[in-house]
Amino acid sequence: MSDEFTLHTSEWVYPSEAVKAAAKIKDYEALSAEAARDIEAFWAKRATETLDWFAPWEKVLDRSNAPFFKWFVGGKISVVHNALDRHIAAGKGDRIAYYWEGEPGDSREITYGWLNEQVCKFANVLKSLGVKKGDIVTIYMGRVPEIIVAMLACAKIGAMHSVVYGGFSEQSLADRIDDAKSRVMVTCDGAWLRGKIVALKDIADAAVARSSTIEHVVCVKRTGQAVNMTSGRDQWWHDVMASASPEAETVQMDAEDPLFILYTSGTTGKPKGILHTQAGYQLLISVTLSWVFDIKEDDIWWCAADPGWITGHSYIVYAPLILGATSVIYEGAPNFPGHDRWWQVVEKYKVSILYCAPTAIRGLMRHGDELPRKHDLSSLRLLGSVGEPINPEAWRWFYSVIGGERCPIMDTWWQTETGGFMVTPLPVVPLKPGSATRPFPGIIVDVVDEEGRPCGPTEDGLLVIKQPWPSMLRTIWGDPDRYVSQYWSHFSHEGWYFSGDSARRDEDGYIWVIGRMDDVIKVSGYRLGTAEVESGLVSHAAVAEAAVIGIPDDVRGHIIYAYCILVAGQQPSDELAETLKAHIRHEVGPIAVPSKIEFVPALPKTRSGKIMRRVLKARALGQPEGDTSALED
Ligand code: PRX
Repeated sequence: MSDEFTLHTSEWVYPSEAVKAAAKIKDYEALSAEAARDIEAFWAKRATETLDWFAPWEKVLDRSNAPFFKWFVGGKISVVHNALDRHIAAGKGDRIAYYWEGEPGDSREITYGWLNEQVCKFANVLKSLGVKKGDIVTIYMGRVPEIIVAMLACAKIGAMHSVVYGGFSEQSLADRIDDAKSRVMVTCDGAWLRGKIVALKDIADAAVARSSTIEHVVCVKRTGQAVNMTSGRDQWWHDVMASASPEAETVQMDAEDPLFILYTSGTTGKPKGILHTQAGYQLLISVTLSWVFDIKEDDIWWCAADPGWITGHSYIVYAPLILGATSVIYEGAPNFPGHDRWWQVVEKYKVSILYCAPTAIRGLMRHGDELPRKHDLSSLRLLGSVGEPINPEAWRWFYSVIGGERCPIMDTWWQTETGGFMVTPLPVVPLKPGSATRPFPGIIVDVVDEEGRPCGPTEDGLLVIKQPWPSMLRTIWGDPDRYVSQYWSHFSHEGWYFSGDSARRDEDGYIWVIGRMDDVIKVSGYRLGTAEVESGLVSHAAVAEAAVIGIPDDVRGHIIYAYCILVAGQQPSDELAETLKAHIRHEVGPIAVPSKIEFVPALPKTRSGKIMRRVLKARALGQPEGDTSALED
């Protein structure tokens, strides 16, 4: 561990009296103790307080088929009822759900009433396209309000959605369509990014051609350039919505019915479709948002993520709506047209709570204090960070320059698989810059060694969750064996979930997440598997074999280095390296493009043929290579 870590473990930042007075939750210890006494009673109480149910559950937690745990068995619920219907019934139709800010400077105010009407209409459109309960609709869109409409419309009729982030390219999209066997896809003509159009519909068309199941495509017009519309297959959103009825029934779902799958990267090239279900997911995400970010009636919440990632699913779409909150969504890049675009947005909408990724903070920090100081950021009262460890330097800048030393930073550790926050402060919890602090009440987290023994305060270990939690993933879509082996088999203890992260717990019980222990790389907060990039490289005719590693980077957290063995007869050249980068951009997406490609005659491997990426990394960083006795050559 770096010196920086040791230096900062003893630094405390205490919440001010003003923060403590404003906070909804005053006593973290009492809630943790309540959960420790009876975890099922703890969650059952929150399920009654936070959500509406059509029928009560019979059993809070069913452990009989571990690790296929079930929550709130027998309960009937709908996330759309909790997110929309009940607010409309309570007369809150005119309340703003989202202030939407387009990258070119256009804006829209989305009320709960408008959202509800659009969701009803699109639910009817989906039904007219033959979508039924249990079907999976693929959504490949930019950051426009219609993506939220599409997601909720699926949920309203009991269909699942699979949102594929708009930064993925045609092959990645095609693989996800095939895995989900989607018949219907919703997309946009394009998305604005740094003043340019990302041609989503063209990519969607290419993905449909490479996959085998899509029958209908509905396309939102956003950027307005000419796109191909295949007759009999493609329809414009505004056309189908014009004739759709604004009345639709919200389907009552079983607590354990699926809500969505979301693909994420793991150790193999095949992305994992993480399945989340109805009740437990709604519960944990709304309680965590309510307590950690202390959302109240007059707050303006801005989760500056993309709806296409879990952060967006949970904390842009579902949890804020369940809480009846008012959010901001900004369509484009933080640095367009200037590096103060985010600060403009905070000022314009008087954002009171800003939640974002360390990579964005570091990227904006590089441009100095001048730009944020030009804007009135005094509306802010809380800040948040997610996606990777936040280094103390970025933490300090965020805290002082953006938050004016008024706003505690909620550093939330969690994963696509966990659905919502697992280790996180609450506003009243004293902070240590760089630590996600302590587990959320009701979440039982530990740092242990390979044998499962708790680590001491100076020892790095494995981050585990020792009890099931309501918003846990339920399986990997179509691959229950992989679900068991990947997450629940690392230790001999039944019901211990292994996160794949390493961490340390200091003498105060504060958790310091160090990073991934597996072949997952976090690039600008995006999660990529080395195998995904490697199979992308090998799919090019010139490449025989490839290995990819993550190298620490000041702004992006990690960047990708790739090592390629060429097929006989191919000559290494700068042009070929550029060709391969373009190939990855096309095959996987811009987020996966290696910063550097090196051509090598051989790769370090074990005798069983496994590439030792650890050795490559040590060499790239000029560090000792450690134990290389397993090395074949
Ligand atoms: O390594 C951890 C890191 O992000 C991983 C999960 O990535 P993903 O599924 O894409 O979800 C990201 C958004 C929740 C984790 O295994 N990570 C996430 N939050 C933090 C973090 N690392 C350190 N500190 C965090 N606050």
